[in-house]
Amino acid sequence: MTEKTLKVQKIEDGTVIDHINAGRGLEVVRILGLDQYTGTMALLSNVHSKELGKKDVIKVEHKELDKEDVNKIALVSPRATVNLVKDFEVKKKYKVELPKEVIGILSCTNPACITHTEPVQTRFIVEREDPLQLRCVYCERLQNKLEFK
Ligand code: CTP
Ligand code: ZN
Repeated sequence: MTEKTLKVQKIEDGTVIDHINAGRGLEVVRILGLDQYTGTMALLSNVHSKELGKKDVIKVEHKELDKEDVNKIALVSPRATVNLVKDFEVKKKYKVELPKEVIGILSCTNPACITHTEPVQTRFIVEREDPLQLRCVYCERLQNKLEFK
């Protein structure tokens, strides 16, 4: 029988972000700044998932990601789960949660917004989760799409 599942070995120690929406893994890497990570990391795209059909998975060796930081990825993958691995075992598992405010990672869709000219971090209030509704704290514009910086 041919092996149809792409296998990536288990990690000894680090973080596995599982159940990322298919095709969004690279965006998650960027949101978490993991494109700057010099350690060992694997990004699996469009692998088979029982619940989601297809999913992306990221394995980062020797790094414990900050929970508040990881929650930002709920913007692109609300069903992602984070697994903290020690000695080859999953020691902690949690689902990402959308934060009440999104700070710094999005750009305001209003070209006249002060955040485009002043050296301030962008801030958006999460007014609704499903469908996602974000409002800029500075110009109060409702965001009709997500623009990552
Ligand atoms: N994993 C890993 N290295 C380990 C342990 C786990 O890379 N030493 C990965 C697994 O491949 C999987 C994820 O971490 O992608 C979660 O592992 P586990 O909880 O064992 O899997 P499931 O029970 O299938 O998880 P869930 O119920 O969240 O789908
Ligand atoms: Zn704005």
